[in-house]
Amino acid sequence: MRKPLLAGNWKMNMTIPQAQDLARAILAGFRGDTGREVLLCPPAVCLSPVHRILGQSGIMLGAQTLHHEASGAYTGEVSLEMLRSAGCTHVIIGHSERRAIFGESDSLVARKMRAVLSGRMVPLLCVGETLAERKAGQAEEVVARQVSAACAGVGTSDALVSVIAYEPVWAIGTGETATPEQADDMHAHIRRVLGGLYGEQVADSVRILYGGSVNEKNVDELMKKPNIDGALVGGASLKAESFARIINYK
Ligand code: 13P
Repeated sequence: MRKPLLAGNWKMNMTIPQAQDLARAILAGFRGDTGREVLLCPPAVCLSPVHRILGQSGIMLGAQTLHHEASGAYTGEVSLEMLRSAGCTHVIIGHSERRAIFGESDSLVARKMRAVLSGRMVPLLCVGETLAERKAGQAEEVVARQVSAACAGVGTSDALVSVIAYEPVWAIGTGETATPEQADDMHAHIRRVLGGLYGEQVADSVRILYGGSVNEKNVDELMKKPNIDGALVGGASLKAESFARIINYK
C-alpha cells in the first residue's frame, strides 16, 4: 500500500557538470523497478541540468528547500513555480540543517509545507530530535511537536500525499545510524500522532522515511521494518555505486 521511496539529498555538493555525471551514473544503476520510487534532490542550480539527464527515466526530482511566497523582493530565494519549471515534483521541508543553521522555526516550516501542498507538489517533511533531547527522554515529544506544527492548516487530502522523513539529528552525517528498532519505534509514534490529527487512514497511508547515515550496508535491515517506507540519504547518495545499491535494496 505504501510504495517505498528512496531519496538522495545531495545538500551543498556538486557543480553542474559533477551533478550531471552523478545523475548519469545513478541512472545506469537504476533498474526501473515500478514497485519503488526514486528521488534526487540536487542543489538548486543543478536541478534543471539534472532534469535533462533524468528525462523520462522515472527517477523524480526534488528541491532541498523553497521560499513560501510566490514571487517578489526576496533576494536569493527560490519559489515553488521556479522549482516546478526546473522539473521538480517534490520539496524537502524543515531539514534539521535548515532548522539549526538557518533558524527555520516550526511556524516557518508550516508555511513552507502549505506552500508546497497548495502548489500540488509533494513535501518531504523532516523531523527529528537532537542527542540532548533523546538523552533527556524528550525525543517522542519533540517529534510530535514538529509533526503537529508542520501540519497546522493542512487538510486530510493534503496530509495523505505528504511524506515524512524521520532524521534524528545525532544520526545525520555521523556514521551512527539509528537501529532499525529505534527508527521503527519512532515511525510508529509518528503514525500515532498522525492518527490523532487525521484518523487511521492517514496514519496508515503516509509514507515515513528514515534518514541519518543510511548506506549500502544498513539499508536492507532498515527497510525490513514494517513502519519504514524508505530512506532519505545524504552522504551515500553522492556515490553512484552506493546509491544504486540503496535504491536496489533487497
Ligand atoms: P547522511 O546520510 O549523510 O547522514 O545525511 C542524512 C540527511 O540529512 C539526509 O537529508
